[in-house]
Amino acid sequence: MIEVEHLVKRFKKFPAVDDVSFTARQGEVLGLLGANGAGKSTTMRIISATLKPTSGTVRVSGFDVAHQPNKARRMLGVMPETWGLYGHLNPRDHLIYIGELFNMPRPRLLARVDELIETLQMQEFATRPCKDFSKGMRQKVNLARTLLHEPPNLLLDEPTSGLDVMSSRQVRELVQQLKRTGKTIILSTHVFSEAERMCDRIVIMDRGKKISEGTTSELCAQAGRDTLEEAFVHLIGREDVEVQR
Ligand SMILES: Nc1ncnc2c1ncn2[C@@H]1O[C@H](COP(=O)(O)OP(=O)(O)O)[C@@H](O)[C@H]1O
Ligand SMILES: [Mg+2]
Repeated sequence: MIEVEHLVKRFKKFPAVDDVSFTARQGEVLGLLGANGAGKSTTMRIISATLKPTSGTVRVSGFDVAHQPNKARRMLGVMPETWGLYGHLNPRDHLIYIGELFNMPRPRLLARVDELIETLQMQEFATRPCKDFSKGMRQKVNLARTLLHEPPNLLLDEPTSGLDVMSSRQVRELVQQLKRTGKTIILSTHVFSEAERMCDRIVIMDRGKKISEGTTSELCAQAGRDTLEEAFVHLIGREDVEVQR
């Protein structure tokens, strides 16, 4: 479970996150839906303890991120918007290297790496250097890295962004699979169809604020509209936003 309460983050005076609260429960996918600049990544960086909030609290599996950051981090797998891969390493060595940094016991680490290569269907390129990989292949390595220490909570920042149709589909399926194993998942997106397909509940964000929260049908009912896209535009009260279908 991830609990966010009255989160505020100001850069100088600019409110990137402005009094945002929500709870992601175990076994559910909670989506943060909003245009570029809405505050999604900033919210995620605060949850993952990479950025300190101006005020507000975050608890990950009950651990307060400000007071017990290491315990909270151990409970969390984070896939940021961009993540560099070491071009000369192959996915297998990459994962082993990361696991060693986390001090994972060697036999457990090797078994876990094999398991992830299989689950994420990375067999074909698991021993090829990462440098010429497609975006989809890279994203799989990143996802494997996120899942390596078997965290119960996951933060996925725009996990399908820039992926081709097949890779997006695979990522979507994997998210559903992870959800069924009881993970708590927060993912961000600026694509309506992705939010609709992947998320059990959606938090609509705009200019740092939480505008509304609910299932797609609840949001549509709230706005008196038939589609998530129309509901979104109605709820944020303006049309000049760049959110994709
Ligand atoms: N380190 C930073 N310094 C100043 N402004 C920032 C910083 N990080 C993000 N912002 C601003 O905060 C707002 C929210 O950004 P972000 O959380 O990345 O939005 P999203 O992920 O929804 O696109 C944007 O206006 C962005 O320019
Ligand atoms: Mg972002």
